[in-house]
Amino acid sequence: DLVRRETFSTRKLFILSAIGSAVGLGNIWRFPYIAYENGGGAFLVPYLAALLSAGIPLLFLDYAIGHKFRGSAPLAYRRLHRSAEVLGWWQVLVCFIIAIYYAVIIAWAAMYTWFSMTKAWGGDPGAFFTGEFLQVSETVNVGFNFVPGVFWPLLITWVAVIGIMVAGVNKGISRANAVFLPLLVVMFIILVVQSLFLPGAIDGLNAFFTPNWEALGNPGVWAAAYGHIFFSLSVAFGIMVTYSSYLKRKTDLTGSGMVVAFANSGFEILAGIGVFAALGFMAFTAGTAVGDVAVPGIGLAFIAFPTIVSEAPLGALMGVLFFGSLVFAGVTSLISILEVIVAAVQDKLGWSRVKASLAVSIPVAFVSLLLFPTATGLYLLDTFDAFVNSFGILAGALVAVILVAWGLRKLPMLSDHLNKFSSVRMRTVWIVLVSVIAPVVLGYILYNEFATKITETYEGYPVWFVGVFGWGMAGALVLGAILLTLIPWSSKSKLNDP
Ligand code: PHE
Ligand code: NA
Repeated sequence: DLVRRETFSTRKLFILSAIGSAVGLGNIWRFPYIAYENGGGAFLVPYLAALLSAGIPLLFLDYAIGHKFRGSAPLAYRRLHRSAEVLGWWQVLVCFIIAIYYAVIIAWAAMYTWFSMTKAWGGDPGAFFTGEFLQVSETVNVGFNFVPGVFWPLLITWVAVIGIMVAGVNKGISRANAVFLPLLVVMFIILVVQSLFLPGAIDGLNAFFTPNWEALGNPGVWAAAYGHIFFSLSVAFGIMVTYSSYLKRKTDLTGSGMVVAFANSGFEILAGIGVFAALGFMAFTAGTAVGDVAVPGIGLAFIAFPTIVSEAPLGALMGVLFFGSLVFAGVTSLISILEVIVAAVQDKLGWSRVKASLAVSIPVAFVSLLLFPTATGLYLLDTFDAFVNSFGILAGALVAVILVAWGLRKLPMLSDHLNKFSSVRMRTVWIVLVSVIAPVVLGYILYNEFATKITETYEGYPVWFVGVFGWGMAGALVLGAILLTLIPWSSKSKLNDP
């Protein structure tokens, strides 16, 4: 009677898929500029502190819940305790929001891979990005003026991703990761080595690694480190709960987690080196200091790299390697995000894999295609990203640790589960980190986020726009989670025992 639960056929495939999820756009474009803005070399201190004190402990928490209760996020939380189901749906909805815009960045990267081979990039790459390519409108609004140059690659991205989702955990997710992740690593290593030989590379690396120790006295720097670690490890999204539910019973959970965490950080540092060597080259060609060329955020990838493509020796190859890496890193993360939603629907309604993955992916793709390949899509993407990160992921993580650690007092039991087959054992230290350090840090970051976002309208966008797509969206996640919790479970899902 039970819906048959797939498992990853080997632990190696699970680790590959977990790394594939963790290594994403965050490693390649987000980490380098966050590190640069927050003390350069000195950022590695709060970064490591955040990784060890909160990132890895919360990763273990996700693993413990997913593996012990063997379910999608809502089912696993529900089996932990009736009152916790709503947390799972909150995470599902966060994944929905992220999925609809994450795919868009992949589509941009796919187009830029193509441009690297075909386009003579002259002039101002920033003007090209927002002008000719995205055709961003002057006014911040919601409009449906479609931009074909983004629509078609996005459609292709969705068709490919839907194919992977329908194929399932073994034939789809595992295989995609087994192909894309090694490719990504090889491509990226070639790119980084190549970038080190660019003229000016050393100046870029100096800018990246020169520590500004004073930054460590700034609480904002520590908040940035913790915020980045949660995003980068994909903890508290429901992703690791879902993936670990597909693990065989006897699995070394903490050992796997360590491998995933250190692989993710290694990739991040590598990306920092590659990106800053490239920025050093840009400064060299422009005859300026590295500090003057660093373009933050999404721009770092889509504005800085075209210059390399047009100016550097073997530029076209470097462009293909860089944007191709973004595509592969993005796809393996996107499928993990979608899997959270698919698995939840499968469990709640008792649907088959194929039915659930089509019923989830097609509407998600439809919304994504409707909202983002438009002249106003960039504003929407930016607002969703800013608000879902703080008031979806971080707020969700805070509520989860408070409920699990203090409300339900489940940490000792979960720690027993982690220790059962694991190589790295911890109990008291882990419990203290999850129940005390994590909530304090998360609470502090969220408070800061709230204070800044409430006092100044995000990016100077119109108040109504931020109200609807920022605050309104965040509120809708909570309301939606409550409503989804009220839908009755399929009789096939055993709510009490996994
Ligand atoms: N961890 C991913 C990264 O570093 C980000 C991500 C976000 C992955 C959401 C999955 C889901 O880019
Ligand atoms: Na990451």
